[in-house]
Parts: sequence; structure tokens; C-alpha cells
Amino acid sequence: MIKERLNILLVEDNPGDARLIREYLTEAAEPIDKLVLAKRLSEAIDALSAHAFDAVLLDLSLPDSKGLDTINRMRSSSPELAVIILTGNKDEQLALDAVHYGAQDYLIKDDINGNLLSRAIRYAVERQSYVKLQHNILVQAIEMMTFIVDKRDPYTAGHQKRVADIAKAIAQEMACPQTVIEGIHLGGLIHDIGKISIPAEILSRPGSLTEVEWLLIQEHPREGSDIIRNIQFPWPVADMVMQHHERHDGSGYPNGLKGDEIILEAQILAVADVIEAMSSHRPYRPARGLDAALNEIERQRGKLFKADIVDMALRLFREKGFVID
Ligand SMILES: [Fe+2]
Repeated sequence: MIKERLNILLVEDNPGDARLIREYLTEAAEPIDKLVLAKRLSEAIDALSAHAFDAVLLDLSLPDSKGLDTINRMRSSSPELAVIILTGNKDEQLALDAVHYGAQDYLIKDDINGNLLSRAIRYAVERQSYVKLQHNILVQAIEMMTFIVDKRDPYTAGHQKRVADIAKAIAQEMACPQTVIEGIHLGGLIHDIGKISIPAEILSRPGSLTEVEWLLIQEHPREGSDIIRNIQFPWPVADMVMQHHERHDGSGYPNGLKGDEIILEAQILAVADVIEAMSSHRPYRPARGLDAALNEIERQRGKLFKADIVDMALRLFREKGFVID
């Protein structure tokens, strides 16, 4: 649906450039309802929490932020906003990288005029609303898969969602790019999808498992990655699923991968998985509690789990008071 009038946030520290862009937009055919100017990224992020905007015109060299990190920080605070880079820098590689970081367009200040700019804004807003629609459908399809796993294993229902939330928060704490954070969250939602190939009575039975049953359970990462391997996610979801029980020192399963052989996303999921699993009740044991879970990952820092991920997880829970829903 095409919105009649647009609210635009202009992030530009150069007063001359800001004046020129304002003039372009005033004389252009495109109806702009509101144009707010921010001279710093921090000012822009404050403006985003105070008003609703359709698009942001973003300079990449601001007093408090430079380059691609500017897009990352902007999109972290407002992932649904159409971001249009408006810069003096004609670097083609930077332009492509900007699009990978989620910008909808990359315009050079010297090359624009009023009509071109206003049309670019309109198209960027439309593309962004289409991206949002597609993304919502993808998330809903993934949530359906989460639901199927939860239905078969009611004792751990909600586990995947909680792991996804914890992993996302750790990734945010580590200042990962927004696209990586999104991928970790969605991978977390289906990290145990391979459990649908394990007989339900094994999953939910109280008491310890036989060796054969344990071997069967250890197959769930491989089964899960086989199920989703042909879906062309824009993130390495099949590897996240395959590797979420691998351990930093090589003692995990199914392939005994070590250190950087394990993708970062899977290493973050592994820490989140252990925190959630230890804090929750299971049919074969009572909950051990969050403090015990945090002490355990601290004890295994640099051994089972990558040190910097453990540090971020501990900071998140102990210093920032993150709570598992
Ligand atoms: Fe698992």
C-alpha cells in the first residue's frame, strides 16, 4: 500500500549539505510530511524513539560514527526503517557493502537533484515494505517449524524460543552486524528441529538413556541440518543447526569440530543452549537454576565455550540483568 506522505529523518552534520538536501526535498514533487534533521548518529537514534519515520537519509561520516557501523547501529535501533545512504564517497565496494548491511540505496550527493532524490526515497520505502512482508512470512514459517518440534516434545516446549532470545541478546552484546543477529535468532528458533526424527518416548522419558538411545539423540543436529539444507536462507542456518552441540575444545558432536572450525553463530547458540537447558526443568532432572548455569559456562570458559562469548553472556545476565522469558 502506497503511503501518501512520508516522514523523513535526515542525518547530516554538514550544514551546507543539510540545507541543500532540504531545498531539494522542498522543491521536489514528492510530498514530504515531516523532515527532521539530526547532526549526529546519537541524535538520530533519539529522534527514532520519539517519532515514526518512513526513511532515513544517512551520511556515513558523522562526528560520532563512521562507515558501515553507522548503518549497523541505525538498523539495530530501527530494523524496519528504509535506510538510504547519502554520501560524498564514490567507493563502489562501500556501496555494495552498504546494501549487504541492509541499506536500500546508496546515493552520491553530487549526482542527485530534487526529483531523483524524492523518487529514490519513494522506491526505497516501497522496497523496504516488501522486504518486511517477505521477512514476516519467513519468520512465521520458521515459527511453524518451532511449533511442530514443541508439539512432539512438550517437556521442552519453549526451549528453542528461549535459546533464540538468549543467543540474540548475546550477539547484540557482542555488537554483531544486524543481519548476523537476525540469522542467529532464526537459527535458534529451529536449532533442535532434528528432534522430530527421534521417537517421542525417548525425548520425554524420565530417567537416564541407554547407550543406543543416546547415540540416536546425538544424531539430531545432522538430521536437523538435512531437513533444512535445501532452504536458501541468507544465513548459514543449516550449519548453525549442525554445529550447535560442537564444543570449542573439539569434545562436542556430531563431528568433533574445534575452535574456529565452528561458525560463530553455532558457538553463540551453544552457550545460549546450555544456559537455557540448565536453568529449566527436564523430565530426567529438576532445574539447576540460572546461577548454576552461569557458573558452569564460566568454568568452561575457553574450554567447551569460546571465551569472549562467555564473557558477553555473563555480562548480559550478571551486570545487565537480562531475564529469560
Ligand atoms: Fe540440541
